[in-house]
Amino acid sequence: MPRLLLVAHAPSPNLKRLVEAVARGARHPDIAGVELEMRSPFDAGPEEVLAADALILGTPENFGYMCGALKDFFERIYYPCLEHTQGRPYALFVRAGNDGRGAVSSVERIVAGLRWRAVQAPLVMRGPFDEAFLGQCEELGMGLAAGLEAGIF
Ligand SMILES: Cc1cc2nc3c(=O)[nH]c(=O)nc-3n(C[C@H](O)[C@H](O)[C@H](O)COP(=O)(O)O)c2cc1C
Repeated sequence: MPRLLLVAHAPSPNLKRLVEAVARGARHPDIAGVELEMRSPFDAGPEEVLAADALILGTPENFGYMCGALKDFFERIYYPCLEHTQGRPYALFVRAGNDGRGAVSSVERIVAGLRWRAVQAPLVMRGPFDEAFLGQCEELGMGLAAGLEAGIF
């Protein structure tokens, strides 16, 4: 069964809801043929990435960059995965107080080095928390899982 790895840092109650919404979408009852694994960046390493057929990355924007947890994850997986995960499909979501561009570009620079392949535009949720973000996250999770199940990535 194809494996979808969700690596997201959720230090706030809103972010926890967003991550849960992504997982809910990925586990939609209509999608039976995908195994979702959820990990904090601190608990994910090369083993999980090498075993994954696609990834969803999630981060708040902090200080104009991805969160430290996700950067720590990338620092640990980069060289062990570099030669083995080229072309991996991935998607990114960012929660930002007022911007989000720094988080997106910081992740994109690193995944460009890894040669991972974005299968959809980054989802940036900026400004005051909006309940509509939950639906967007659910759609993101569902889209990745459905694409993986259908073998279109
Ligand atoms: C230390 C710190 C730095 C932050 N830096 C930024 C930033 O550079 N740009 C931005 O848009 N939001 C920034 N924020 C806001 C966070 O992105 C936001 O609090 C986080 O995504 C959680 O969202 P929530 O308020 O909906 O729980 C920062 C928050 C913290 C705690």
